[in-house]
Amino acid sequence: MTNTLVVVAHPDLSNSRINAAWYKALLGQPGVTVIDLYGRYPDGRIDIAAEQQLIEAHERIVLQFPMQWYNCPALLKQWIDDVFADGWAYGSGKAVAGKTLSIAVSTWSKASDYQAQGRYGRTLEELTSPFEVLAFRIDMHYRPGYFLSGIGDIGDDDLRDNAEKYRHYITAFEYQYSVDMA
Ligand SMILES: Cc1cc2nc3c(=O)[nH]c(=O)nc-3n(C[C@H](O)[C@H](O)[C@H](O)COP(=O)(O)O)c2cc1C
Repeated sequence: MTNTLVVVAHPDLSNSRINAAWYKALLGQPGVTVIDLYGRYPDGRIDIAAEQQLIEAHERIVLQFPMQWYNCPALLKQWIDDVFADGWAYGSGKAVAGKTLSIAVSTWSKASDYQAQGRYGRTLEELTSPFEVLAFRIDMHYRPGYFLSGIGDIGDDDLRDNAEKYRHYITAFEYQYSVDMA
């Protein structure tokens, strides 16, 4: 079985709908480890060795977050900066080479906003390309991603259904899935 580590980076998971539903859908799934990054490090001081050990124990890493100002939340960026360190992830180290990296992202704005001709003139793939280049740089396989856009009006049934799909995406090791609720 492929072991998957899902790093959930929501600044306030207790007030989240989407990311909390995704998070709960994964709890207790065989082969899946889920961590709540903000809950784990409320003071923002990341235990780098512990995180590196966790990554070493998994073949696939999924970074899950709500889009915030066209980027990931700050603690996830810090986690990347701290954990993928010189001598471990690159330089003399190759700890993550051959592993798979994916992202799972929720956005308030609808999918049509994230098009070349849309409101933002940038696709989600473009806006999240730093994750792809990170993977390339440290010899991981990048497999985009699980996207849910236009979440403003999502009802409870649709969210439950989407969380089921997310669970399938993670446990079946699928690689690409996007839904627009708008
Ligand atoms: C500080 C902040 C910045 C945000 N920036 C964006 C953004 O750039 N694009 C977008 O589509 N939604 C943005 N949103 C909306 C969130 O992405 C959306 O509320 C979230 O994905 C919903 O997930 P949740 O129910 O797990 O909180 C932002 C929200 C906050 C609080």
